Amino acid sequence: MTPVDRPRAFLCRRFTPAVETALHARFALQLNEDDSILASAEIARRAHGSEVLFVSATEAVDAAVIAQLAPTLRTIATLSVGHDHIDLAAARATGVRVLHTPDVLSDACAEIALMLLLNACRRGFEADRLVRSGAWAGWAPTQLLGMGLVGRRLGIFGMGRIGRAIAVRARAFGLQIHYHNRSRLDAAQEEGATYHATLDGLLAASDILMVAAPGAPSLRGTFDAQRLALLPEGAVVVNISRGDLIDDAALIAALRSGRVRGAGLDVFANEPNVHPGYRALDNVFLSPHIGSATHETRDAMGWLLIRGIEALARGETPDNLLS
Ligand code: DGY
Repeated sequence: MTPVDRPRAFLCRRFTPAVETALHARFALQLNEDDSILASAEIARRAHGSEVLFVSATEAVDAAVIAQLAPTLRTIATLSVGHDHIDLAAARATGVRVLHTPDVLSDACAEIALMLLLNACRRGFEADRLVRSGAWAGWAPTQLLGMGLVGRRLGIFGMGRIGRAIAVRARAFGLQIHYHNRSRLDAAQEEGATYHATLDGLLAASDILMVAAPGAPSLRGTFDAQRLALLPEGAVVVNISRGDLIDDAALIAALRSGRVRGAGLDVFANEPNVHPGYRALDNVFLSPHIGSATHETRDAMGWLLIRGIEALARGETPDNLLS
């Protein structure tokens, strides 16, 4: 394909070097050079005339953006499995195809889920700070006692691909797996996990709650004060889904009172403006939305989008097509 034949594409964020090289070979690519987060109106302006729009979870692709790009836009490709930032109905209505990146990030996200879980249960933030500060006076029998994992119940909300990858790892730590999904998994996928038909039932049985469901507007605020109160006293909360599933004020109050012993959070409502209440707490371990942040995974996510676009061009339906 000569440069003039290449479809025009706009890349809202900087992808890995290997993926950007592959994109340059296939598209007349315009970049958002400084990798800033672009507002919707800016995306509509800068991507004008593009056939393909590459985004990530930081870009809100709403109906207005889609309408403005619709005359040329054929495909939106998001470097994320989550797609709550894209108005799929508007894309469908204008015939724009939407691709995302399932599967290839499940292992990386499960690793971060376990990192959060371990740090929340074993007081990782306080331990690190003690050593770094120079205040550590040496080993002590009752220093930084945490919650052991063996025999505890891990309640996974959202036992999809990522939830199941978490369960595999958690079993190796001696955790018993409980879960809630809209529908029960078959026995092979359950691998002995206990199904709860209701979320409230899962909460009552969760020494550690793992929020791993895909983000969706309908799930906003699911974990409010009432729901968090259903957890056993001293439970731990981990979130690798989307921040807005949790009512921050309610979780912060529960962490302050100790009713929730600790939390591990990789995602936040209104990122990157994390609720200041979390920063003031010692019993919360925070990470900046790095679930899929490994070299291999981000390359694989980029390649999945490229292959999806190529499949669409051949008239095929790739597995990672959302609409
Ligand atoms: C995802 O893939 O949805 C991650 O949260 C990164 O955005």
